[in-house]
Amino acid sequence: MDRLKTSARLMIVSDLDHTMVDHHESENLSLLRFNALWESNYRHDSLLVFSTGRSPTLYKELRKEKPMLTPDITIMSVGTEITYGNSMVPDEGWVEVLNQKWDVNIVKEESSKFRELELQPDTEQRPHKVSFKVDKDKAHVVTKSLLERFEKHGLDVKIIHSGGMDLDILPQGAGKGQALAYLLKKFKTEGKLPNNTLVCGDSGNDAELFSIPDVYGVMVSNAQEELLQWHAENAKNNPKIIHATERCAAGIIQAIGHFSLGPNTSPRDVMDFLDLKLENVNPGHEVVKFYLFYERWRRAEVENSEPYLDSSGVFVHPSGIELSLCEIIDSLRSYYGDERGKRFRVWVDQVLPVQISPDTWLVKFKKWESSGGELKCCTSTAILSSKDGTTVSDGRTWVHLHQTWFEESASKDHSTWPI
Ligand code: GLC
Ligand code: MG
Repeated sequence: MDRLKTSARLMIVSDLDHTMVDHHESENLSLLRFNALWESNYRHDSLLVFSTGRSPTLYKELRKEKPMLTPDITIMSVGTEITYGNSMVPDEGWVEVLNQKWDVNIVKEESSKFRELELQPDTEQRPHKVSFKVDKDKAHVVTKSLLERFEKHGLDVKIIHSGGMDLDILPQGAGKGQALAYLLKKFKTEGKLPNNTLVCGDSGNDAELFSIPDVYGVMVSNAQEELLQWHAENAKNNPKIIHATERCAAGIIQAIGHFSLGPNTSPRDVMDFLDLKLENVNPGHEVVKFYLFYERWRRAEVENSEPYLDSSGVFVHPSGIELSLCEIIDSLRSYYGDERGKRFRVWVDQVLPVQISPDTWLVKFKKWESSGGELKCCTSTAILSSKDGTTVSDGRTWVHLHQTWFEESASKDHSTWPI
């Protein structure tokens, strides 16, 4: 990971389904709380890693369904595919490791002989992962005889049972835990071992994450029986692992606090930012706060007389027309409460500040809005200054804001979008 020049302050390695993402919470509030916490306090010096059982196809589908951040590293298909950055560049070295004592054709052929196994969709069959559905009570016996057959062929495979219904066959060296160990080794070689690592999971394929030495771990409150059982048998006395009392992303936030890994108050849990003067010196915090204010303004969850609305500066509309921030803010006034009682949410992703002078920051980020099931995104560049002008709550002024709409949003009418 080239983004950080030194060790990450915190690396979070999180499973997605039922860990980062709660499929039983249609408002996605705990995920949005985590997002705001991450972007305001961690993004600039920490690493976010998603480790999912999903293939790239299903991972991309989930990203469209839920308000997820963009991770620095994406590990998919149960630790068999490691990719870096926004363009998801695959780690070729990892592929080499996985090829050892593995033959996907033999695995497919042998496993097709078991009537108890029902093949998962084509998208979930990957070069180093063959996946099935299986009855909970048959998983154990089937696993045993599968392993015997593969051994006869000279293969060394690993079989993982997850969610009480999925069965994945992988190379022995694969899996979420091995993929994390590989990453940590890589960071160590580069002299950039993260100061702290927190792993987060809920099901069987996450168990391995908790057995990596020196990492903190959180099993979310809604963790599956198979993970809790693994923990009881293998890691009961490890004080670095907790079973959270909160569900999904709220459990991750809880663990950050429990292990004192850094700030654990999400800006979404703060209603009065004016009380928080100069507590947070990271300009990312300013961006998160501003868009949270914007969401609350349109939902009429703040009072219609906020001093926050006073600002000077310039806003560059995608059309290229420059408007003063005052004009934008004037137009914002008329949108007060237009999303009242609706499912309107705003969140920012990849908020990356660069200091360009002692009192000026250039901050790049993506802004997402979801309203009535429709999702819109734009990339933004803002200049924040702590000098002159009318100051905002923690002493910084928005001097300039430039937005470019994403392709898919571009065709839509943005006349209703003040910022
Ligand atoms: C995800 C994958 C599936 C896998 C399961 C458990 O749901 O899509 O193929 O079996 O995770 O690892
Ligand atoms: Mg899960």
